[in-house]
Amino acid sequence: MKYSYIAKSALKHLRAGFKLPYMVMFETTLMCNMFCEYCIFGEEGKFNDLQSRGARERIFRRIDEFCDMGIFALSFSGGEPLLNPSTVDYIAYAADKGLWTSMPTNGLLIRKYADGVARLDMLEVSIDSLDPKRFAKRRGLDGLPKILENLAFVLTKRKPFTTQINAAVNLENLSDLPGLAEFCRERDLVLHPEAVHNVMRGGETLPDVELHGTEIDQVEHFLRELRSAYPKNVRFYTHYYEFYRRGGFGSQFPCRHPSKLISMKPDGAIHLPCAFYTLHKSQALLKEIFGSEPVKKIIAQEETLWDFCKGCKIGCPYEVSAFTNSPMLALESGLNFLRII
Ligand SMILES: C[S@@+](CC[C@H](N)C(=O)[O-])C[C@H]1O[C@@H](n2cnc3c(N)ncnc32)[C@H](O)[C@@H]1O
Ligand code: SF4
Ligand code: SF4
Repeated sequence: MKYSYIAKSALKHLRAGFKLPYMVMFETTLMCNMFCEYCIFGEEGKFNDLQSRGARERIFRRIDEFCDMGIFALSFSGGEPLLNPSTVDYIAYAADKGLWTSMPTNGLLIRKYADGVARLDMLEVSIDSLDPKRFAKRRGLDGLPKILENLAFVLTKRKPFTTQINAAVNLENLSDLPGLAEFCRERDLVLHPEAVHNVMRGGETLPDVELHGTEIDQVEHFLRELRSAYPKNVRFYTHYYEFYRRGGFGSQFPCRHPSKLISMKPDGAIHLPCAFYTLHKSQALLKEIFGSEPVKKIIAQEETLWDFCKGCKIGCPYEVSAFTNSPMLALESGLNFLRII
């Protein structure tokens, strides 16, 4: 079923001259039950976005529209996606239709929703240290033992195609990464380290959490060595560090979020140019949105970007942009993703 869906979607992209978006980032809720020191969501009561009437039905219809458009992949993100009780139903619906599904989660609720979570093609659990004290400091909650227990339980249910451990990395937890890589090797998981970077939302930025100067070199060097020691279990984009050093997105390496990665909010609204800044939002049909003049104008501007993009290095738009800006990287990542290289 998935393969026939992929083939049909590929044909739609071919017919449209590869101009269509191919992935969706659905922020199921911006609420969170953890308080990570480098994340903008870790603030109690800041968001309350599950009250929108009719949202559940609207999301199912949006998934239908994504399939009609030929979207390949749907990422269920957040906040903490499992705080939205409908998330597992959306996952099942999208998976049945043939979409490739993924979800990053802090792992606190994966046992409660184990059957739904087990349907994902890629489950990403965020663990940046196996030292309970350091974990509690960084993630704002003493939850490591429970999360590890939950993960072990979910892995006995059914193994998603890939289970990835996401580790936000800076100098504080660099020495914890070999332990995490070994943990992944023993369980046939993938470790995805990602350098901590500033995340902006609607113009609001966290206190500076970025790596500077030689810190970037140290992290990159360490990760390269780790990947050499664990080639099957450690995955990251080497080019990301060059991009980081150069200051992120810019005219040399434009962000392709507006044209290739659709941002959908908990109420089913589509936001542009991206999940992190809104110039345009709409509940209209997807084809109308992408055929409208204001949206065409926004997409045309992605080559030069906007002032608020200055310094942006956010991981998900980076990945989508890397594939679009560099076909060789796309090929390499595809093969790597399928675990062929
Ligand atoms: C925003 S969270 C949403 C999903 C879920 N709450 C979780 O923690 O996995 C998605 C991923 O972004 C990572 N992240 C959050 N803030 C970050 C930052 N400033 N730099 C790098 N990664 C970050 C998290 O560790 C997590 O792996
Ligand atoms: S990284 Fe995830 S778990 Fe941590 S505060 Fe952000 S959204 Fe919540
Ligand atoms: S670079 Fe992309 S993701 Fe970052 S703020 Fe600009 S449009 Fe949004």
